[in-house]
Amino acid sequence: VWEQVARVPIFAALGVVTLSEIVGKLRTRYYPARVTVVRRGDAGDSMFFISSGEVEVRLPTGGSVKLSDGAFFGEMALLERQPRSASVATTRPTTLLVLYASDFYEIASHIPALAEAVEVEARRRREENLGRQAAGTKR
Ligand code: CMP
Repeated sequence: VWEQVARVPIFAALGVVTLSEIVGKLRTRYYPARVTVVRRGDAGDSMFFISSGEVEVRLPTGGSVKLSDGAFFGEMALLERQPRSASVATTRPTTLLVLYASDFYEIASHIPALAEAVEVEARRRREENLGRQAAGTKR
């Protein structure tokens, strides 16, 4: 898992002690291509870091966004305590690191830098989605 964590930029700035705590909570999961990992409207019980591969986020507005090595997803449902905002599926064989909600909340409570980085990106995504909705873009 250490090797996979090293590929995720959001973890890069953290010290070894902090990292070892997170590494202990991550579970590696291998997915084939074209598998739905999270489904829009479902309850969110975990978030995911992409160790290698690619996923497609199918936005409610009809567009889609691709995320690959080093990116994360599934954070919005945890932060907002809302159902999944979009469906996310693999486009090719993909290795994901899974962090369960309870572990995320615990880690976020004492590693503010990590919580903040995840929140900043979640906010950016939310605004992007609202912007697309307002513009009625279907890309
Ligand atoms: P969540 O709502 O838990 O489940 C769907 C996920 O898709 C969401 O968390 C984000 O991680 C991701 N997502 C939603 N909108 C975007 C976006 N505009 N760009 C990238 N990822 C997104």
